[in-house]
Amino acid sequence: MKISQRAQRIEPFYVMEVAKAASALAQQVADTDSPMIFLNIGEPDFTAPPLVQQAASRAIAQGNTQYTPALGLPALRERISGWYASRFGADVAPGRIVITAGASAALQLACLALIEAGDEILMPDPSYPCNRHFVSAAEGTSVLIPTTAEERFQLTREKVAAAWNDKTRGVLLASPSNPTGTSIAPEELQGIHEFVHSRGGITLVDEIYLGLSYEEHFGHSALALSGELGQSVISINSFSKYFSMTGWRLGWLVVPEALTPVIERIAQNLFICASTVAQHAALACFEPETLLEYERRRAEFKARRDYFIPELDRLGLNVPVMPDGAFYAYADCTSAAARLGVSGSWDFAFELMKRAHLAVTPGRDFGHAAPERFVRFSTANSMAQLHEAVARLEAVLG
Ligand SMILES: Cc1ncc(COP(=O)(O)O)c(C=O)c1O
Repeated sequence: MKISQRAQRIEPFYVMEVAKAASALAQQVADTDSPMIFLNIGEPDFTAPPLVQQAASRAIAQGNTQYTPALGLPALRERISGWYASRFGADVAPGRIVITAGASAALQLACLALIEAGDEILMPDPSYPCNRHFVSAAEGTSVLIPTTAEERFQLTREKVAAAWNDKTRGVLLASPSNPTGTSIAPEELQGIHEFVHSRGGITLVDEIYLGLSYEEHFGHSALALSGELGQSVISINSFSKYFSMTGWRLGWLVVPEALTPVIERIAQNLFICASTVAQHAALACFEPETLLEYERRRAEFKARRDYFIPELDRLGLNVPVMPDGAFYAYADCTSAAARLGVSGSWDFAFELMKRAHLAVTPGRDFGHAAPERFVRFSTANSMAQLHEAVARLEAVLG
């Protein structure tokens, strides 16, 4: 069968090989005194809080399960707008908010609406692998720009300006980022967007981890940039991470108001709407009781970061920039790998899996600049498991 060029451009997800090997080994060691610890998982270890679960059951019992408008339930768009105002001081009219099947569908809609064949989109290396594929599915080309720890593994205005050419259509950033958990400083983001906007380009900012921000300086939405800048930026968000609802498949996109009908037309045709049950459930995310629970969880994620990252550093797994959000640590494993008698993060991940029954994610999927130097640890796991992970790392590396 002839496969489309489009499909062939989508690279395999190498981490799935690691995840598959980890699951197979996990079964073998499940009943030993050293069961597998999964530090490779990119989703919260919490489920939706009680009020959210109850709202979902109620929607099903009451038969509130027909299609919603393509843009989403008006009440949900209102609540998200209210959340931007109360949590981020950002003025985001409900008319700019489009409810989607996760950040993934939001990214697809934005790319399909704005990218022409041959357009180039700048993004940092390392970054979330699927972003490259959303761009290529829209026939665009992603241009990965190597970043440094000093730059918090993010793009700078200077680098964007240097890379800009006639084909460049815009930038796709994630702040905080996966795999590094580091954000762009607000003043740098403003500089980037000012430059991009002045060239008639688009600034897409994936803010899926913004709810899980731990430092006052970095925890700002791009939508809160002043005046025209905040109104013209495109932001992607989701119920997956801060709201602990990965499998419910619900997220949203914020666009300049004039773009809403364009996105609506594409969404109507490609998706009809996001899950109705998930949308009714998500209304309960913004109840005071539920928001308190989310804030308690955010504090827990921060406590895990504060414990785990210094421990990685102590064990020679240097994390060059303290993450200010999300639940990841991107650690340089060069010397740790040498201590295990291997070289490169791919072999290091398999060696760690074999010797310590710890699953981590090697850098290969996240970019081309230095994938063999870095592994990603996820701290979306209980404090007890993180303590056990440190003890095992100490036993094999110490
Ligand atoms: C940076 C980033 N963007 C988007 C996504 C997709 O999330 P969703 O579950 O909302 O589709 C992920 C998932 O891990 C992610 O890490």
